Amino acid sequence: KQTIQIEALPQHVPFLTTIQYFAKEMDGFYRLFVRFLEERYRKTKMDWNKIRSPAPEQVIPYRELSSTSLDQSSDLLSKLAVLKLNGGLGTTMGCVGPKSAIEVRDGMTFLDLTVHQIEHLNEVSGAQVPLILMNSFNTDRDTRKIVQKYNRHSLQLLTFNQSRYPRILNDSLMPVPNDPTDNTGGAWYPPGHGDLFEAFVNSGLVDQLLADGKEYVFISNVDNLGATVDPTILAHMASSGAEFLMEVTNKTKADIKGGTIIDYDGGVRLLEIAQVPSEHVDDFKSIKKFKIFNTNNLWVSLRAIKRVVESNELSMEIIVNHKSTDAGQKVIQLETAVGAAIKHFNKAHGINVPRSRFLPVKSTSDLFLITSDLYSLEKGQLSVNPKRMFQTVPLVKLGDDFKKVGNFLARFKTPPHILELDHLTVTGDVTFGADVVLQGTVIIVANHGNRIDIPSGAILNDKVVSGNLRI
Ligand code: UTP
Repeated sequence: KQTIQIEALPQHVPFLTTIQYFAKEMDGFYRLFVRFLEERYRKTKMDWNKIRSPAPEQVIPYRELSSTSLDQSSDLLSKLAVLKLNGGLGTTMGCVGPKSAIEVRDGMTFLDLTVHQIEHLNEVSGAQVPLILMNSFNTDRDTRKIVQKYNRHSLQLLTFNQSRYPRILNDSLMPVPNDPTDNTGGAWYPPGHGDLFEAFVNSGLVDQLLADGKEYVFISNVDNLGATVDPTILAHMASSGAEFLMEVTNKTKADIKGGTIIDYDGGVRLLEIAQVPSEHVDDFKSIKKFKIFNTNNLWVSLRAIKRVVESNELSMEIIVNHKSTDAGQKVIQLETAVGAAIKHFNKAHGINVPRSRFLPVKSTSDLFLITSDLYSLEKGQLSVNPKRMFQTVPLVKLGDDFKKVGNFLARFKTPPHILELDHLTVTGDVTFGADVVLQGTVIIVANHGNRIDIPSGAILNDKVVSGNLRI
């Protein structure tokens, strides 16, 4: 580790060579691992009694910001870059490639929709906002293939890879990999989206963007189709002088897991479920005590990112994730969350935004909603179909047979029409024909060994279907 003097490298070297990059990554891992050991042996935990609800100035309602339109913002937009977190595989949905490669609408993937959004933004505003993708060794190849078709577009599309850290054996805490060039077998992992700051600076892109006159970066999960560039928030970022804004939104009973902004010793912090002592987990999940959660839409000053990384200030809370390698070894991987960096930035605060800015796809039930006629698509932007008469979106619970994207897609000939749907529960071996209409509350249960095929054109209105139905 000591053989390469990374610190001695000239600052202006924009892209490090492979070996130097590897050494930087291992330095990052080493710092994370040492912090993990310190916490483990000192047993330092957050002091629950110091946790307070955020003060009014720590989370500002969106409606209190002075409204700014795209046409008024071309100056500010010329200082903005958009970054999508694209390092995750979407394992919950059984994705083998990047989740962003799933086709969402009209044959377009999350990545295509994102490109359309930014191209439209640039067209309307006259600005040239670049799109940056943070990939990982798991997603880089497939992502590059998809975005190749945009080579001739005028959009500036940049990618960099987040770090690749070694998993550690559960019992001995020794690193698993024995070959730095072999990514297979589950010996290496991308260390969570909190790795963004170091990976972004190490890639040389932060310097490049600053040199191009960019000042701000808008970061969001690539699967959050509600995370569009909002000129009102950008203008607030500039006028408030905040180095970091976190978009939060009101929690519902379905959002029990998301991190929340808290006041800790007078400073703003992100509290994630992983840091909550087990006796307080119910408190954390309650929507009374913690009313908001982090959407992971973040606005951050590029100069401030450079500062906190280069002065080694970052010490984000460590999330210990238990996994198994392909060979069945019990291992842990140390991760951090991007929002946890909020405590390192000056004037950082939350903005309580409308729910429409949080439209994530975490499960095939979410995918069911966004692929349906509940949403209309324009210029890469989804919005609730004006024909929907209710304010709320339907509550959808698809069973295990629908859990993986492949199975989900195979079970619907075309997406059902759900403009008038309130609640849908489907369990067991169920398939849907083309143009099925679902209205009100629909419950379909195929018991073990049975199968239900909903025929094309069927209209199910406030219906319970169970047993064995093949038509
Ligand atoms: P999550 O890990 O919260 O959700 O990532 P996910 O992608 O749904 O993954 P599973 O289903 O829990 O496995 C939120 C965002 O952060 C990115 C993901 O690509 C997603 O856009 N991410 C996650 C990274 O870029 N790097 C990581 O190491 C982890």
